[in-house]
Amino acid sequence: MPRYPAELRTGRLRLTRTSRADRDALVALDLDPSQHPFSTPPTPRQARAAVRGHRIHWWRHGFGCWTVRTRDGGPVVGLGGLTLASDGTRHLLNLGYRLHPAVRGLGLATELSRRALEHAAAAGPGLPIVVLTHPSNEPAARIAERLGFAPDHPEHGRVLCYRLSPT
Ligand SMILES: CC(C)(COP(=O)(O)OP(=O)(O)OC[C@H]1O[C@@H](n2cnc3c(N)ncnc32)[C@H](O)[C@@H]1OP(=O)(O)O)[C@@H](O)C(=O)NCCC(=O)NCCS
Repeated sequence: MPRYPAELRTGRLRLTRTSRADRDALVALDLDPSQHPFSTPPTPRQARAAVRGHRIHWWRHGFGCWTVRTRDGGPVVGLGGLTLASDGTRHLLNLGYRLHPAVRGLGLATELSRRALEHAAAAGPGLPIVVLTHPSNEPAARIAERLGFAPDHPEHGRVLCYRLSPT
């Protein structure tokens, strides 16, 4: 059974398991309003808890979101990957991505998402894979559709669910 990688490189990115050393950079990213185009940004306390949650997710499940840096060893520019979710009746894999505005529009979120999907079987064999996003989040939706996801039922009327079509 292949393992979900804790560290890997794509053509342009270095992806690493979220670690304590990344905490301040990831908290700063999460506090930036650009990361929450359709919701209120978290408080610093909530942002710290969210980052801790990503580390706990890795400990519990052996996979999770990667901290994203450019391949040349630059600073943290994003967060993305697969996390475990539930639709109330069964487990799902939730594909998430967020990037600093300075590196958007280059296809990097798509690049990291493709890598995450390549390793989905190691994260949760056979689990449905979804992207959950605000219905007005066009950049997020375009990435989902480019990756082969199709719109599914709305959840709670404010979250649009994209589901990866079976191949
Ligand atoms: C969602 C988010 C990550 C998208 O970032 P992005 O840079 O637009 O996404 P990508 O890296 O895939 O870039 C896509 C764009 O880059 C361009 N691009 C350039 N080279 C490319 C390549 N090799 N491959 C794909 N796209 C490429 C495409 O034209 C594309 O533009 P388009 O969407 O207008 O067609 C970003 O808007 C964000 O961080 N938002 C805040 C957090 C958020 O809402 N996350 C989603 C929750 S699920």
